[in-house]
Order: sequence, then C-alpha cells, then structure tokens
Amino acid sequence: MRMERLMNFKEEYQKRTTEIEAILETYLPRKEGYQKLIMEAMEYSLMAGGKRLRPMLMRETFRMFDGTGKIIEPFMAAIEMIHTYSLVHDDLPAMDNDEYRRGRKTTHVVYGEDMGILAGDALLNYAFETACTAFELAPEDSRRIGRAMTILAAKAGIYGMIGGQVVDVKESGHAVSGEMLEFIYRLKTSALIESSVMIGAVLAGASEAEIQTMEGIARQVGLAFQIQDDILDVTSSTEVLGKPVHSDEKNEKTTYVTWKGLDEARSDVARMTAEAVRGLESLGRECSFMKEILNWLVSREK
Ligand code: IPE
Ligand code: IPE
Ligand code: MG
Ligand code: MG
Ligand code: MG
Repeated sequence: MRMERLMNFKEEYQKRTTEIEAILETYLPRKEGYQKLIMEAMEYSLMAGGKRLRPMLMRETFRMFDGTGKIIEPFMAAIEMIHTYSLVHDDLPAMDNDEYRRGRKTTHVVYGEDMGILAGDALLNYAFETACTAFELAPEDSRRIGRAMTILAAKAGIYGMIGGQVVDVKESGHAVSGEMLEFIYRLKTSALIESSVMIGAVLAGASEAEIQTMEGIARQVGLAFQIQDDILDVTSSTEVLGKPVHSDEKNEKTTYVTWKGLDEARSDVARMTAEAVRGLESLGRECSFMKEILNWLVSREK
C-alpha cells in the first residue's frame, strides 16, 4: 500500500515536472545573434533535468492560497534560472570545482570557464527579465508583482543565497561552529526555497501572517534539504546523484554530517520535516501534495 502511494506520488511529481519544463522552454531566449553561444550554454544548464523543486513549491503554494492564472509562470521560470545559475557558479573551479551536474558535464567544462561565468550571469539577469514580463501579463496585479520581484531579488542576494555561498566558500578548510553552519544553510539553501513559497503566496493574495508562516516552513525545509544533500554526498553514488559524491570532503567543508554524524543528521532531517509538515497543516488549507513532497524529500536519493 505504501509502495503504491509512493508510485502514485512519483508519477504525479513527474507529470508536474514535465509541465514545469514546458514553461521553462517557453521562457528561454531564442538562440540567435553573434552571442548565440550564451543562449546555448543557458539552455544546456537549465534544461539538464533536476528536481525542479523550487518552481514546484512555488506553484503548489500559489494553488494552496487559491491563486489562478498564468501570472505565476514567469516567476516559476525565474526562480529555476536563479537556482541554476547558483549551481553553474557553485561548480566553477574557483568554488567547488565539480565536473558533473544533473547527470552531465558541468557548463564550464563544456563551454569553458569564461562562458560558464557568463552563462551564470546571463541566467541571473534573464531571470529578472523574465519575471518582469508578469507586469504585461497582469497589469492589474502590479503591486503584488512588485512585491514578488523584491522578494526574488533579496533572497538571491547578499542577505540570501549569495551571502551563504560567501561564508561557505570562505570557511572551507576551517572548522565551523554549529551556529555558523546553520547560518550558511539558511542563506545558501533555505533562502531560495523561502523565496519560492513566499512568491507563490504573495501572487495568490495570501495574508501577511500566511506569507510569514510559509517563510518559516520553507526555512525548515531548506535546512532539512541541505542536510539531506550533505548525507547523499557521503552515502550515494555519482551515477544516482548526477553530480560527484565526496565533493564536500574534497573541499574540506564542515557539513552537518561532519558536525553531528550520519545518524543524528538523518534524525534531524526527519524532525525538521515533521515540524514543517505540522506548520503546513496549521494553515488549514488543502496541501496534501505539498506534504507528500516534503515527506519524499527526507528519503530522496538524489
Ligand atoms: C542542489 O539543489 C543545491 C542545493 C541547494 C543542495 P537541488 O538538489 O535542488 O538540485 P537540482 O535542481 O535537483 O539539480
Ligand atoms: C550549494 O551547496 C548550494 C547553492 C547555493 C548552489 P552545495 O555545494 O552542497 O550544492 P551541490 O552539492 O554542489 O549541489
Ligand atoms: Mg557549494
Ligand atoms: Mg557544490
Ligand atoms: Mg552538496
């Protein structure tokens, strides 16, 4: 019975992933002009697969708060572009120096380091160009769209993902305290997940209290997500993950696993996820698929 439910969930997740990828395709720039190479590199990294977790959570939150229409779509594309740029830069020789991502050679390996850097820059900028198209889609919603843009920008920046990556990179090779480790994870990983659900809630017209509750839930989900990523770096294989295992050890990173050990890391992922699920339930909205996503993340293999 449990197996059957998991199969249904996986099929449903796959179906929704295909829908998200169709949206991403429509927002990709045409490959033309003297600069065509950059459009190719953007597509190479963006369309390589991946879980599409952030747009998935954004859309689920939007639906949960009774959002309708296409206004969410440019933001779904934008968050996945920003996430993908963060991965392209994270893999660069100057950062984690990894050669595989989403089951293929990393962008800088295929297109060269110069184009790897520019493809990341291009995805970041194009994310905002894409999000801005929401103003034309729904001019009557311009206040909400403006708020969503502000969240998108802030959570990707120096008080969000970039800030977390800065400390992560700077502290490589050093022992890091538990407090600092949580700071790094909250910024480098939770921030983009917080942004995803907050934008879904804002565009659907959720209340301030609901937006804040979703931010808190996403913070927990992001922490659990990064800890599970650290676990898989130790326990999985490159074939399954689609990216190199033991990357953290290679870069002498303090991770949740080096800090607390595998067993405690696993039980903390389960505890944080259960807290996030309870938070969702407290909102009293239809959220069964979102709960299934969170529960699946605990046991995910990639
Ligand atoms: C990888 O993110 C980077 C982390 C924040 C751990 P994902 O595990 O969501 O990567 P994709 O999008 O599925 O490739
Ligand atoms: C990176 O964390 C999170 C980002 C903001 C890109 P990791 O360095 O652990 O991500 P992976 O394992 O390379 O996907
Ligand atoms: Mg990294
Ligand atoms: Mg990395
Ligand atoms: Mg990792």
